[in-house]
Amino acid sequence: MVANMFRSNNRFLCEAFTVFVACLCWLQIAQYAEPVKIPALPLPSYVGKACRANDPNLNECVVRTGAPVIKRITQGDPKYRIPKLEPLTISKMRIEQGTKQVGMTMECQECQLYGLSEVNFTAARVDLKKRHVEWDFWMDKLMFLGKYKVSGRVLILPITGSGDANITLSNVTFSFLYDYDLDLKENGKNYARITNSTLPYKIGGMYINLENLFNGDKLLGENMNRFLNENWRDIIKEVGPAVADALTEVFRATMGAMADLVPFEYLFPSD
Ligand SMILES: *[C@@H]1O[C@H](CO)[C@@H](O)[C@H](O)[C@H]1NC(C)=O
Ligand SMILES: *[C@@H]1O[C@H](CO)[C@@H](O)[C@H](O)[C@H]1NC(C)=O
Ligand SMILES: *[C@@H]1O[C@H](CO)[C@@H](O)[C@H](O)[C@H]1NC(C)=O
Ligand SMILES: *[C@@H]1O[C@H](CO)[C@@H](O)[C@H](O)[C@H]1NC(C)=O
Repeated sequence: MVANMFRSNNRFLCEAFTVFVACLCWLQIAQYAEPVKIPALPLPSYVGKACRANDPNLNECVVRTGAPVIKRITQGDPKYRIPKLEPLTISKMRIEQGTKQVGMTMECQECQLYGLSEVNFTAARVDLKKRHVEWDFWMDKLMFLGKYKVSGRVLILPITGSGDANITLSNVTFSFLYDYDLDLKENGKNYARITNSTLPYKIGGMYINLENLFNGDKLLGENMNRFLNENWRDIIKEVGPAVADALTEVFRATMGAMADLVPFEYLFPSD
């Protein structure tokens, strides 16, 4: 009797569940069936006149048009799904080097990156035929502020601590190189999509200050900071790639957001 009740109960549940799943499926189909509105926004008004695809001085035009836009873009623009980039909040950055015994892990949480609004756009090489673009930038200063946590060994010395960090890079040259494809969407317009990218960089100097190293031991902390600053060229080999990854992410996200909204023919009109 009890077993029977269970069985019928189960059956009821089963049927209810089937109906529920069917409903969900139907909802999904209904959603898919509805024509998706593909956004086709013009370039933001602060960009000015777009460069013509057949401009004989396309590279110069791109720099002339792009350079003044950077400061404005870094304030963020919800309409184009661009977050505030000055400062840029990096929720977590992790640097891992070597093994547990001889390596180092460093983590920065809620890191704030200052300096992107002061980026100089120095040169561009745009190849619309090969769908390959290179942008060169220069920055006087790039400053990371945030809470760090470090443990392990740096170069040869044991290091441990957590607290406020200031890592400031100076004379930073970097390029953003990317390939893209064009996707023809149902509205008859093409949209660019980055397929791969690299971000080579060169850093002229680094200042590093980690507060509260070794549980706040002042002498050890000061010595370690001095050691880190004296050996910054070796340290940068460990920190640099994580920074480049963070910047690459910014570029891909910012450009991806805009490229999804603004058709390619609005970026480079051909007539
Ligand atoms: C950076 O750009 C500013 C204008 O935005 C310009 O005055 C300055 O000379 C540039 N610096 C370099 C090194 O290109
Ligand atoms: C971080 O260090 C740089 C370079 O020394 C310095 O200019 C800047 O004021 C420091 N920032 C803070 C918040 O301490
Ligand atoms: C910045 O680095 C470049 C090489 O990348 C060098 O030629 C230049 O002198 C440096 N500028 C400063 C102010 O250190
Ligand atoms: C994209 O990937 C291809 C093949 O790996 C490579 O040849 C090309 O240089 C890459 N382009 C960029 C911008 O990194």
